Amino acid sequence: MIPEAKIIEIRDRASIVEVLSDHLTLRKVGRNYLGLCPFHSEKTPSFTVSEEKGIFHCFGCGAGGSVFHFLMQYDHLSFPEAVERVGKRYGIVVEQRRQPRDGREAEQRESLFRINEKVSAYFHENLFGRAGGKGALEYLKARGVDEKAARRFYLGYAPQGGQGLVEYLKREGISFKDAVRLGLLSDRGAERYGEKFFGRLMFPIAEPGGKIVGFGGRVIGEGLPKYLNSTETPLFRKGATLYGLFHAKEAIRQQDRVVVVEGYLDVIALWQFGVAYTAATLGTALTPDHVRILGRYTKNIIALFDGDEAGRKAAARSFEIFLEGGLLGRAAFLPKGEDPDTFIHSQGKDALEAIIDRAIPLADYYLTWLEERFGRSLEAKSQIAQEVKRVLAKVRNAFEADLLIRRAVDMLGIRESLLRAPMPGAGAAQRAPAGGTPPKEAPLTAREDMAERSLVCLMLRSPTIIQQVMQEGEFERLVSPAWCEMVGAILAEWKEYGEVEATRFSQRLSSERAAEIAGLMLEGEKIAEEDGERMAADCLSHLRRRHLRDLQRQLRQAIRRAEEVKDEKTKRERMLEWQEAVRRERQLLRQRHAAKTDIR
Ligand code: UTP
Ligand code: MN
Repeated sequence: MIPEAKIIEIRDRASIVEVLSDHLTLRKVGRNYLGLCPFHSEKTPSFTVSEEKGIFHCFGCGAGGSVFHFLMQYDHLSFPEAVERVGKRYGIVVEQRRQPRDGREAEQRESLFRINEKVSAYFHENLFGRAGGKGALEYLKARGVDEKAARRFYLGYAPQGGQGLVEYLKREGISFKDAVRLGLLSDRGAERYGEKFFGRLMFPIAEPGGKIVGFGGRVIGEGLPKYLNSTETPLFRKGATLYGLFHAKEAIRQQDRVVVVEGYLDVIALWQFGVAYTAATLGTALTPDHVRILGRYTKNIIALFDGDEAGRKAAARSFEIFLEGGLLGRAAFLPKGEDPDTFIHSQGKDALEAIIDRAIPLADYYLTWLEERFGRSLEAKSQIAQEVKRVLAKVRNAFEADLLIRRAVDMLGIRESLLRAPMPGAGAAQRAPAGGTPPKEAPLTAREDMAERSLVCLMLRSPTIIQQVMQEGEFERLVSPAWCEMVGAILAEWKEYGEVEATRFSQRLSSERAAEIAGLMLEGEKIAEEDGERMAADCLSHLRRRHLRDLQRQLRQAIRRAEEVKDEKTKRERMLEWQEAVRRERQLLRQRHAAKTDIR
């Protein structure tokens, strides 16, 4: 036996990403790492590693656990052998391995970034330094942008005439070819080059690290096109870039939320008024990539829409985008005809934040919208069920699928069975690893223990929920036997250590359970902290109701048996118990109903 302290020392020292990288290739995606699973054959990676939590999990085949579990399965080692192996790797020298990148390609990108950097400095100086910039500066002033904001966002001016940038590039010895690749010049042949931006106010667009990937240019005053954006280049992908994210990062982390708007000037105006946790899409609708990127900073994404019909439609549509991006977003609505820029100038910060605070979960919004669209007739309900099922097929996370089903049942009174029935070609099929072994488990949305699963997922997500479950007390009676042990283990771990740390905790469990726990932990990451408690309350209430119904059934049987043997006393006792169970169930339903109207 290896002493517990030794195991902990090795665990703390080891990096799961490093150890696993000895055997397979991992790529950083968001806060986790992704790779092709070594335990089953697949073409799209579903093998996920969390450095933070020290766990891995394959969403394809269900393998998972700590760094030790990995070596146990990969090299067929025993637990002590696996601990020894990891220890050896860190025993003597600590290797600082840096991720090797393709050298040449990286170098080329860097040099393109340097050009954008210089060009943006050129535009910026034009705005403040040169005579031509005056008109642009006045326009900015008229739009209410102050100098501090113009400096912070490094706004610029591309002069009229169309030879300013060309001259500048010549002076700096920057190759025109590179400028063409960056979409700053167009090659007209015969050594003639045209400038893409002229007579425009320039907005440099940065990636989250602050490097400039492209530009947006606005006409000064009226004119068409109102905005020109850089074309897609090796550095710039519109659908995966958010204007202002670099400047907003810290505020987003601090406030644990982000507001998504549409325009450059919206971001700037909001920042000026102190709503710094804002980023904008670039004239395109929100994409799943946008959602994934923002999800690295916070799970609370609030999309701000115009209150008109188009805005409402856009909000309903964006629900699917959020699901594809793996998060449940919220929507907030401005009064008709206002955009964030005009609104904050006329109404101020508090009024805008009041609107943001009132953002509603898109899941709820979407369901209400469906009801408005289809109505409440029986036929409408079946149409809505079809629509919900279509969207459910896009949900990658069993937990979110369950949440959506439960809300559809609660809000619209759609029969649960309608939504859970399998749909051909949906979700699970789409996720099945190509050519490999199919996932071991049946589609999760069809499982009866979904509420338990969700609850455990939430408990692993946050200690407040563990407390919530602990206060519930009699969880052993509510939770199905298969999950009782798991919930009990979490509570015991929490009582002992005040936290549930993956590696230590998984030592309490079998390999299969450890694998499952790793998956649940990764799923839990996607849940916004503030949604967690409500979801947990939902799960608990579901479990309580199920328990009361079981109880009623058992009591009815007992009453029948007592009647058969003419045992009046027992019969009376069971009757009273049955009435009590019915009363408690009704009370529960009333509470749920009250909570529901509260949210809406
Ligand atoms: P809007 O038309 O809503 O403009 O475009 P705006 O942001 O309110 O602009 P101002 O306030 O009149 O200056 C929103 C966003 O859509 C993209 C830009 O990214 C803009 O910020 N857009 C708009 C374009 O790419 N091209 C256009 O011609 C117009
Ligand atoms: Mn505007």
